[in-house]
Amino acid sequence: MKSKDLRRKYIEFFKAKGHVEIPSASLLPENDPSVLFTTAGMSPLVPFLLGEKHPAGARLVNSQKCIRTGDIDEVGDGFHHTFFEMLGHWSFDDYWKDEALKMSFEFVTKELGLDKKYLAVSVFEGDKNAPRDDESIEVWKKLGIDEKRIKPLPKDSNWWEPTGDNGPCGPCTEMFYWTGDKKFVPDVFDPADKNWVEIGNDVLMQYEKVGENKYKIAKQKNIDNGTGLERLLAVMNGLDDDYRTDLFWPIIQKIEELSGKTYDLTPDPLLVKERGTSDTVRSMRIIADHLRAATFIMGDNLGVASSNLDQGYVVRKLIRRAIRHGKLIGIDKNFCSEIAEIIINLMKGVYSELEKNKEFVISNMKEEEEKFRKTLEKGLKVLTTHMRARDKGDIINQENIPNCSPVDGVKGYVPPVITGDWLFDIYQKLGFPLELSLEEIQKEQKINKFDLERIKNEFEEEMKKHQDLSRTASAGKFKGGLANQSEMAIKYHTATHLTLAALRKVLGEHVFQRGSNITDERMRLDFSHGEKMTPEQIKQVENIVNEQIQKNLPVECEEMNVDEAKNSGAMGIFENKYGERVKVYSVGAGDVCFSKEICGGPHVENTSELGHFKILKEEASSAGVRRIKAVLS
Ligand code: ALA
Repeated sequence: MKSKDLRRKYIEFFKAKGHVEIPSASLLPENDPSVLFTTAGMSPLVPFLLGEKHPAGARLVNSQKCIRTGDIDEVGDGFHHTFFEMLGHWSFDDYWKDEALKMSFEFVTKELGLDKKYLAVSVFEGDKNAPRDDESIEVWKKLGIDEKRIKPLPKDSNWWEPTGDNGPCGPCTEMFYWTGDKKFVPDVFDPADKNWVEIGNDVLMQYEKVGENKYKIAKQKNIDNGTGLERLLAVMNGLDDDYRTDLFWPIIQKIEELSGKTYDLTPDPLLVKERGTSDTVRSMRIIADHLRAATFIMGDNLGVASSNLDQGYVVRKLIRRAIRHGKLIGIDKNFCSEIAEIIINLMKGVYSELEKNKEFVISNMKEEEEKFRKTLEKGLKVLTTHMRARDKGDIINQENIPNCSPVDGVKGYVPPVITGDWLFDIYQKLGFPLELSLEEIQKEQKINKFDLERIKNEFEEEMKKHQDLSRTASAGKFKGGLANQSEMAIKYHTATHLTLAALRKVLGEHVFQRGSNITDERMRLDFSHGEKMTPEQIKQVENIVNEQIQKNLPVECEEMNVDEAKNSGAMGIFENKYGERVKVYSVGAGDVCFSKEICGGPHVENTSELGHFKILKEEASSAGVRRIKAVLS
């Protein structure tokens, strides 16, 4: 079975059950990001899961582009991916468990023709916050799943909630398919047996997360189904390796050609169960996965190039890791843009933005690859210079070398023994990876096993410290988003619309929203503009926004299709939204209409509710993008 047929089959099946197909949302959250990337089909739909009305109705279906960076270290086996497509369908306060599980079961057994003899399910076993999901157990039994194949499991596997402190959530129930020898399918479902492969997840959303480990009963009940396309496709083709499916195979073939190595899954006789884990296969998978993710992030309609900031930093890391693994399997020339080209050709039929943004992707890919090669050269130089200097007993003075604590008043210090934290600094400052440092050190002077272990441990410790720090920082940074529907957050949301319209009046029509983040305390808006704003311009924007607030303008919402929205002059991302029903929020009506944007809401009813608007800060966010922080009082 081909990926395009499976994707279509899923969408058509649920359309026939009354769901309306919506396009994939951007990989980079369009409004109020509480995360860097769209991590699930439900992420862009949070406002509707919390009670806003979706213009396309109460039943939706799509295939959503997703990025998850949490599993990046697992990538390399047959089924973990940084970028993946999530087939999903939703019921907003419409059908509930009984109908949902019946539909999922019918899709798998009738539409896909999988025999229920090989199916098993997991359900939520209950905890102090929510009871065991007996209803689902009953529905599965009625559908003919044997009790021994229904496994209640704890919260860490059968409860689903989005990252962050707020949001719709609830117990989930997953379907598994036996991919082992059909003659030996066990009667009892053991989730630890890797032959049982997850093929779909129904989240039964009846709770709302309102803080860490705090939940309340939600206003409405929703179904949030997610089905990983890559995994299901492999199952449908009898493969235990997603990279063998048509979604990846042409990429792997190109990597084979470039490296002159084969993607050989012949089992290691000593590791019969762990097929396909040879280092070469692992590197090939990492290259395919990482460049696919980087291509999709750069090729998105809100795409970003590699940088040292947020999503751009993820792109940089992905490309650099791919190059590292290219080197490990013997690819010595620049190759990333060639792979990106294959990925674009492979996927542009489904995600046309890739074709549109092709030039941007290819040129950035090339640039990043060049840059990294230079980094490697520089890192190498720093390292060898130091090692040689140290061998001679010299103290050298080099400004950009980290950990250069003064020794006898002379700046520049080479540690007497090579330490992991010193190599970590070289990695941090120059992007030069540990394995390469070790390779070089090994070349210059053999290090014994004992020292090697010590260096690695020290490096990892430093890395961990650094990650803890950045995790704490980003937890603060990305707190707040559409899941936060507090009174204050709603006010800031409307103020964001006013600010964008005011910026366009003062700075010009080149200003578009590039990101926004809202907490109860402040709003933040990123927008396209090349220069620092002058104090006069800041004042002007503030005055315009406050004038609109004082005019007591009504905020109105209309539903229309995308073309109508476009023709009405509404701001928004139009690509890939053809024919879709959208909500358009206007601040002020008729002649005094001040702002008009495609948006999910919610908003205040009248600008008079907002109070006084003040810009606290204006600064650069990334190349060509400025950032404003503002408050209402
Ligand atoms: N939101 C659910 C998931 O990501 C369906 O698995």
